[in-house]
Amino acid sequence: MRLSLSLVAIATASLITTEAAQLSWEQAYAKAKAKVANLSLEDKVSLGTGIGDGPCVGNTAAMSNASWPGLCLQDSPLAVRLAYNVTGGIAGINVAASFDRKLTLQRGHDMGQEFRGKGINIQLGPDVNMARTPEAGRNWEGFGEDPYLTGIMGALTVQGVQAEGVISTAKHFILNEQETDRTTNTSIADERTIHEIYAWPFARAVEAGLVSVMCSYNQINYTYACENDATMNKILKQQIGFQGFIQSDWGATHSGAKALMAGLDMDMPGPDDFWGANLVAAAKNGTVPMSRVDDAATRILASYYKLGQDSNFPKVQVDSDDVPSAPVDVVTSAAHKATVRSIGAASVVVLKNDDNILPLTNPKAIGVIGQDAGPTFYGIGGCTEHACYDNGTAAAGWGSGGSYFFDLVDPLQGITSRANQSKIKSSLTNDVDTATQIAKAVDIAIVFVQSNSGEGTDRSNITLWNKGDDLVKAVAAANPNTIVVVHTPSAVLMPWVNNVKAVINAGLPGEESGNSLADVLFGDVNPSGRLPYTIAVKNSDYPAHVSKPPVVYSEKLLIGYRWFDTKNIEPLFPFGHGLSYTNFTYSNLKITKSKSSNMAISASIKNSGKIAGSEVPQLYIGFPESAGEPVKILRGFDKLMLKPGQTSTVTFPLNVSKELSIYDVGSQSWQIAHGQFKVYVGASSRDIRLNGTFSL
Ligand SMILES: *[C@@H]1O[C@H](CO)[C@@H](O)[C@H](O)[C@H]1NC(C)=O
Ligand SMILES: *[C@@H]1O[C@H](CO)[C@@H](O)[C@H](O)[C@H]1NC(C)=O
Ligand SMILES: *[C@@H]1O[C@H](CO)[C@@H](O)[C@H](O)[C@H]1NC(C)=O
Ligand SMILES: *[C@@H]1O[C@H](CO)[C@@H](O)[C@H](O)[C@H]1NC(C)=O
Ligand SMILES: *[C@@H]1O[C@H](CO)[C@@H](O)[C@H](O)[C@H]1NC(C)=O
Ligand SMILES: *[C@@H]1O[C@H](CO)[C@@H](O)[C@H](O)[C@H]1NC(C)=O
Ligand SMILES: *[C@@H]1O[C@H](CO)[C@@H](O)[C@H](O)[C@H]1NC(C)=O
Ligand SMILES: *[C@@H]1O[C@H](CO)[C@@H](O)[C@H](O)[C@H]1NC(C)=O
Ligand SMILES: *[C@@H]1O[C@H](CO)[C@@H](O)[C@H](O)[C@H]1NC(C)=O
Ligand SMILES: *[C@@H]1O[C@H](CO)[C@@H](O)[C@H](O)[C@H]1NC(C)=O
Ligand SMILES: *[C@@H]1O[C@H](CO)[C@@H](O)[C@H](O)[C@H]1NC(C)=O
Ligand SMILES: *[C@@H]1O[C@H](CO)[C@@H](O)[C@H](O)[C@H]1NC(C)=O
Repeated sequence: MRLSLSLVAIATASLITTEAAQLSWEQAYAKAKAKVANLSLEDKVSLGTGIGDGPCVGNTAAMSNASWPGLCLQDSPLAVRLAYNVTGGIAGINVAASFDRKLTLQRGHDMGQEFRGKGINIQLGPDVNMARTPEAGRNWEGFGEDPYLTGIMGALTVQGVQAEGVISTAKHFILNEQETDRTTNTSIADERTIHEIYAWPFARAVEAGLVSVMCSYNQINYTYACENDATMNKILKQQIGFQGFIQSDWGATHSGAKALMAGLDMDMPGPDDFWGANLVAAAKNGTVPMSRVDDAATRILASYYKLGQDSNFPKVQVDSDDVPSAPVDVVTSAAHKATVRSIGAASVVVLKNDDNILPLTNPKAIGVIGQDAGPTFYGIGGCTEHACYDNGTAAAGWGSGGSYFFDLVDPLQGITSRANQSKIKSSLTNDVDTATQIAKAVDIAIVFVQSNSGEGTDRSNITLWNKGDDLVKAVAAANPNTIVVVHTPSAVLMPWVNNVKAVINAGLPGEESGNSLADVLFGDVNPSGRLPYTIAVKNSDYPAHVSKPPVVYSEKLLIGYRWFDTKNIEPLFPFGHGLSYTNFTYSNLKITKSKSSNMAISASIKNSGKIAGSEVPQLYIGFPESAGEPVKILRGFDKLMLKPGQTSTVTFPLNVSKELSIYDVGSQSWQIAHGQFKVYVGASSRDIRLNGTFSL
């Protein structure tokens, strides 16, 4: 039985019932092995051979003689791409900024229902690569600069999607943290860094039952990711224990036998000279052992059986052409749109709010200024590249990570429909003179600015697009009550930050953009978004940048805030930062060690302000010095909704052998660190409210 879960139901254990129809890996493997035993060599190879054109962006062949329907693989990590009547979803970076487990899981269920409704077997997401550099073009698809946060958001996404019977694909494995030269060159990182930072989110997704992984375009140590024995066989399959199948990124396969033996199970999109007939020949002449051909086939079939796709799976209803065929099943719904709107509001990060200018309280006239406040065409034949996005509001980036938004509510629409008592004056260009005129004529001036990026290109700088800095400065000079709203895939520079009263980072919020923003501006939702990355004062403060190859991860463990902390660099806004319309006080730190491998840290959080709101208490751990870890690393967070005056306890469970351990290269294993640990509980990585210590 498949359930449609309300937000309330999510909190209960009933969630798990959707998985009842699914199999354990053990059961799935038994079923798959029985099937493989009946297949010809050609059929086994065919299971993992992309056939190019078909209804989906990736397709494998149907085999009537083997009663096999073939598989449909479709973008994207945020919605069904290239399809009508789907919900235009919200970017991973906003999911991360929500720090909200329940909404993240709900989004996974919603997406799973939509992919399944369209007959898609395999969703090509989530993206769990790290925001290592501020410029990386796909930062918005992933969950930010912290592996612990990325691991949790990735795992919850997998859990939700797969509970609906759709295969999740964690991508891109591995060290694919920039677009520049991604298909032609190598990334280099030491093993400890790989395990503790870049493989960590994949490992957490595997624990959540992940069924597919996509290997990346880049090389690692000068060997392509999709023929890399060290990363696919050794790290992913042996050390992490991944039992599903590895598929190539589109065109990332460079060999047949070599790639198969290194761990690649499925070649996409094909057809090419590497898989299919070539592998059949290689198996016939003994270049690859039949046992490995069987293993690849078994992994694919086991994945399919594990999620129950052999029973009542809907027929494919998408069309991979840029112009999809006539609309068929409607998979979007008011409930799914509501999830996007809720995450949009929950991921609005209020960076600054001087004089409590927010929430707005019935201003007579509001100025809505900037091209980023206006409509953008994200439809068929529309936004597939930079120019098209450079026109109205930024609600998603471009490339395979996006989807059509047929129903985009832009900021001007969202504000207008909510602000019924305030007069709205707008200027939907970045023209400074018009902006100044409008700003002078209103009580509150909201100026919208953006930066954006997509697959295939990194940002060449992290400055606002289209002279956004000049626009903000002009508006701020004309009106002391200026609020800046930034739509962006990752950090931007804010040289005007001291000129304005409030700054909101709204990320890339999907098709409910304007509604989500209005929810927060007008105080219907008390903001609770937190930065999933560091915003630096200047670009050179960051530990890493997009570089020409080889891409050496020389900052090692010091990604993001870990670098700023260790090098004592003051950020403009730190990781984990975000303001509320109320205040919270922290007290009563408790550290509990039990005899088992688990321990727990707890604290009391009180809403000491006047209105209800959610707080995101964060746990950071400082390892014993001998461990060689950064000053502090995130090891817990929660989101608590508290009424005025209400106090609640937040508990952060810690799995010692995982979360208080380091990867030891000598023994190739995780080892618990010994010595004195520091405990920091706070409202951001730089707003620590409670300190403590314990020893292991
Ligand atoms: C194997 O093939 C036989 C004969 O066609 C068929 O009866 C049996 O059901 C097949 N087993 C599986 C697991 O497909
Ligand atoms: C099954 O059919 C496919 C084509 O659909 C063919 O390539 C394959 O060889 C056939 N297998 C057997 C055992 O006949
Ligand atoms: C499906 O999408 C198409 C294209 O946007 C639209 O014209 C049609 O009204 C939608 N159908 C339904 C039932 O919403
Ligand atoms: C890596 O990139 C450099 C510079 O673009 C190029 O000269 C070199 O051939 C590339 N190496 C490989 C292995 O592709
Ligand atoms: C890359 O090469 C370095 C140096 O030989 C080695 O220490 C490291 O383990 C290699 N990494 C991978 C993933 O193969
Ligand atoms: C075996 O077949 C593969 C694929 O056709 C080919 O590349 C390879 O050279 C062959 N090896 C031998 C020893 O015949
Ligand atoms: C912006 O959108 C308008 C209306 O869709 C279009 O006419 C114009 O060419 C677009 N401009 C750019 C730079 O894409
Ligand atoms: C518009 O204002 C009226 C009167 O204050 C209020 O009842 C109504 O809820 C408002 N509408 C919206 C969308 O806020
Ligand atoms: C930043 O990059 C954008 C987009 O590539 C470009 O148009 C702009 O000129 C650059 N700005 C600066 C300050 O380099
Ligand atoms: C939070 O408390 C500080 C001082 O204790 C006060 O200045 C500020 O206005 C309060 N903020 C809110 C939103 O209540
Ligand atoms: C801790 O994490 C490890 C590694 O993921 C896992 O095997 C183990 O079951 C966990 N322990 C507890 C007590 O949850
Ligand atoms: C806890 O430690 C941090 C880092 O040393 C320090 O900045 C902070 O002031 C301390 N907070 C408390 C409440 O002691």
